[in-house]
Amino acid sequence: MSTATYEDLVRRVNACAKCTLAQKRNRAVPGEGSLDADVMFVGEAPGYYEDQEGRPFVGRAGNLLTELLDSIGLRREDVYITNMLKCRPPNNRDPLPGEIAACQPYLDEQLETISPKVVVALGRYSFAKFFPNEAIGKARGKPRRWNNLLVYPMYHPAAALRNGRLRVALEEDFRALPGLIRDAGSLPVDQAEEDPRQQLSLFE
Ligand code: URA
Ligand code: SF4
Repeated sequence: MSTATYEDLVRRVNACAKCTLAQKRNRAVPGEGSLDADVMFVGEAPGYYEDQEGRPFVGRAGNLLTELLDSIGLRREDVYITNMLKCRPPNNRDPLPGEIAACQPYLDEQLETISPKVVVALGRYSFAKFFPNEAIGKARGKPRRWNNLLVYPMYHPAAALRNGRLRVALEEDFRALPGLIRDAGSLPVDQAEEDPRQQLSLFE
């Protein structure tokens, strides 16, 4: 992605008023990281601290994400991090369908232009963009082809902070990420069906 194109995207997000979240935000949060990243993380929406700083994943969930990246030898600058919604929903309520629809073109642009080898969908809203009407608890940890991208669903770090079993699953899925990045492109399409970890779906 050329730097000029990217800067233009950031400018458009910062000036965006396509949904009502624009009225209450302090800062929009377009995303950050390497434009040559092999892996892109897609979370849900900015929270309190993200809205204050204009940066993704800088609160408690963000600390966990940073820690998990560190555990596999990656720094935040090595990857690209963004969200489904670029503006904070009031009181961190769940995203509404209209907000997701309004904001989606920015994410699509990021996916297309950064074109990562692996897209990590963090949590059910992010996962639902790629595979609607499926349970994240069943899908997590299994890489799936989506158009020309490889989507790797995981639990959201905020959910993992509330539930120890989800945290164990998240850590497990992170450990498999370096191998997945390395092998991306040569994975069989139906690998998901053969994954032995399906029993963890009970923990959704
Ligand atoms: N949770 C998210 O989904 N995204 C953030 O940026 C922070 C917390
Ligand atoms: Fe625009 Fe997305 Fe922010 Fe809504 S959430 S105002 S669509 S950038």
